[in-house]
Amino acid sequence: MSITQLARAQVQALTPYQSARRIGGQGHIWLNANEAADSGEYRLDCSRLNRYPECQPPQVINAYAAYAGVSPEQVLVSRGGDEGIELLIRTFCEPGRDKILICTPTYGMYAISAETNGVGIVDVPLRADRQPDFDGIIKQLDQVKLVFLCSPNNPTGDLVDSAGLLRLLDAAKDRALVVVDEAYIEFCPESTQAGLLADYPQLVLIRTLSKAFGLAGIRCGFTLANPEVIGLLLKVIAPYPVPEPVAQIAAQALNEAGLATMRERVAEINTLKATLAEQLRQNAQIKDQVKEVFAPNGNYLLVRFAPGSHVFARMSQAGIILRDFASKPGLSDCIRITIGNSAEMDAVLQILQQEQ
Ligand SMILES: Cc1ncc(COP(=O)(O)O)c(C=O)c1O
Repeated sequence: MSITQLARAQVQALTPYQSARRIGGQGHIWLNANEAADSGEYRLDCSRLNRYPECQPPQVINAYAAYAGVSPEQVLVSRGGDEGIELLIRTFCEPGRDKILICTPTYGMYAISAETNGVGIVDVPLRADRQPDFDGIIKQLDQVKLVFLCSPNNPTGDLVDSAGLLRLLDAAKDRALVVVDEAYIEFCPESTQAGLLADYPQLVLIRTLSKAFGLAGIRCGFTLANPEVIGLLLKVIAPYPVPEPVAQIAAQALNEAGLATMRERVAEINTLKATLAEQLRQNAQIKDQVKEVFAPNGNYLLVRFAPGSHVFARMSQAGIILRDFASKPGLSDCIRITIGNSAEMDAVLQILQQEQ
C-alpha cells in the first residue's frame, strides 16, 4: 500500500482550498486575497517566550469583547476565522453522518472544512437577488447542524437581509446553529448582527483581524456566541492555539490607538472603493468593459467584465494579481479586486484605460 493509500479516503479525494497564496501568480501588486495594503507597527516583549501561552489570552478576549460589545464569555480566539469555522464543524458535526448548509457562491472554506472532516454539504444557492434563499434553507433545517451565511458575502459583497435572518433564527431554534461570517464587517460596522447574540443562542458570528485590522499574517480570528457554544468549542480547540507574539500584537491592535488606526484604514479603503466603483461605471474609456459592479460592502469589489478573461490577462501581464471567479456558478466573467492603496488602485485603472 502506498503512503497516499494509507491516508483517509476522504483526504485522498480532497482538493485543498485554492487560497490566493496557493494559486500564486507573478506580480508586484497583490489584490487577490482581500488583505490590507499595510500592517502597522507593534512592540514585542520576548521575555516570556519560554512559557506556553494561555489557551485564551485574557487581554485579547477582554479587548475583543469590549470592541464587539459582548461579554468575554461570548468570545473565543483562534488561529484566524478559519479555525473558528473548522472548530464549529468538528464540535457540532458527526463525521459520516451530519451535514452543514452553505449558500453558494460564498467563501470556500466552509465546504473545504466540512469535506476534510467527513461532513456532508447541502448547498442552497443564493437567489437571483443574491440573498440567501431563506425559505429553501428553512426547509433543510432538520437535515443540517450548521447553516453558514456570510455578511458581507465573499465574493459578492452583499449583506444578509436582517428580516430573513430573524426568520431563519426563529426557525432554527433547537434545530441548528446559524453562523454569520462577519470577516468584513468593519467596512460596514452598522450592519453587524452582534446585537442579536443576546436573544438568539443559536446564532454564532465569525470575525477576524485579517482584513480591516491589516493582520492576516498573525492568524487571529474570533468566534462570538453564547457561552454554552463557546464552552463546547473550548473542549475541542488545541491547548495553545494563540502564540504569545500573536496575543501581544492582537492586544495592541484592539487598544484605543489600534482601533483608531483600524478605523482610519477602513475610511481610506471605503473612499478608494467608492472611487474605483465610480470609475468602473462612468469613465468613458472603461465603462464599456464593465457589465456589473457588485455590492461594495467589504474591502473588495466583484466586477463582471466583458470579457473577464481578457481583463485578467491584461492585469497579470502588468504584474497585478486579481482573483478570478469566472468558473463559479453565476459568476461568469467576474473578477474580485481587493482594494489596495491609492497607487495600486491607480495602477488598476491605468491598465483598464489603456488601448486594447
Ligand atoms: C468570508 C471570510 N471568512 C473568513 C475568512 C478567514 O479569515 P482568517 O484570515 O481570519 O482565517 C476569510 C478570509 O479571506 C473570509 O473571506
